Amino acid sequence: MTDKKGAILGIESSCDDTAAAVWMHGEILSNVVASQDIHKEYGGVVPEVASRAHQQNLIPVVDTALNRAGIKKEDLVAIAFTRGPGLIGSLLVGVTFAKSFALSLDIPLIEVNHMQAHVLAHFARDPKPAFPFLCLTVSGGHTQILRVNSPLEMEVLGETIDDAAGEAFDKTGKLIGLPYPAGPEIDKLANQGKPVFDFPEPQIEGLNFSFSGLKTAILYFLQREVKKDPDFVKANLADICASVQDRIVTILLKKLKKAAKQTGISRVAIAGGVSANSGLRRALQAEANQSDWETFIPDFEFCTDNAAMIAVTGWYKYQAGEFSSQEVAPLARWQV
Ligand code: KG4
Ligand code: ZN
Repeated sequence: MTDKKGAILGIESSCDDTAAAVWMHGEILSNVVASQDIHKEYGGVVPEVASRAHQQNLIPVVDTALNRAGIKKEDLVAIAFTRGPGLIGSLLVGVTFAKSFALSLDIPLIEVNHMQAHVLAHFARDPKPAFPFLCLTVSGGHTQILRVNSPLEMEVLGETIDDAAGEAFDKTGKLIGLPYPAGPEIDKLANQGKPVFDFPEPQIEGLNFSFSGLKTAILYFLQREVKKDPDFVKANLADICASVQDRIVTILLKKLKKAAKQTGISRVAIAGGVSANSGLRRALQAEANQSDWETFIPDFEFCTDNAAMIAVTGWYKYQAGEFSSQEVAPLARWQV
């Protein structure tokens, strides 16, 4: 029989996904996510609605995660939770639950940085990158290039100065009438189109990114074209999506290439919700073949928000003895 001791429960509630996962003996035993579809009606995440939904979902999600892992709460050795960055009301639900649960079981509490966890999602399953490696973390709220020196030591080499890559997908998708979150929709439609429209590339120094200009350029482009032909968007939807995606992907890849050149590191990973994008995955692979990179692309279930990444990060912090006190409070902003 497997030794059930040593299990870590991960809890994630930073935005609109309520998630729980169990990590034990070097593997993920369960990974449960309840996504909140209700935000589709509003075209974006409504913070108040999100925290209420987390309150409803969290206990059933944790219960399911423990059941699927085949363990009891008494088998847990620690509770890891997302402390930030994220929506404060959403984080508060996870933080409060984690504190109470850890207190009642008399086990350590471990705070986890959500962005660090996106990177460490690569350690949920083989193949795991060796250190150091570069990680392009692209999500709805962040876009960063990190130099990852060890599980708990990472350095930001560049980041967005305005919108995140996921926001660029979501906001341009909204302009062409796609439901929230538009990233996966654009991805699907882009595969049926060609990047025939040329959107401008921002001229940003160093390894930083900017996506707000792209959104504005697309807005003006659409306004101009719709004036000439009211059916322009409908008639060219797939090509518009392919063009938007192509531009976002070329911006990301260009900086990643620059980072690899500057650091001399050729182990390159992608992480976060946008790393599920098929265009980005393809472009990374093509660049890897050309530049002889070793690449790490996460399984889909570990790209978007999940608690497996929180549990894995919790395990590294558990081994390092990095525990939190019962006074710990959520952080809306928190650099890795
Ligand atoms: O990491 P994530 O689940 O949540 C945050 O931490 O923000 O990322 C969500 C973002 C959203 O902007 C969503 O549109 C984007 O990831 N996304 C995608 C795809 N799947 C999710 N963007 C482009 N293509 C996709 N296939
Ligand atoms: Zn995320």
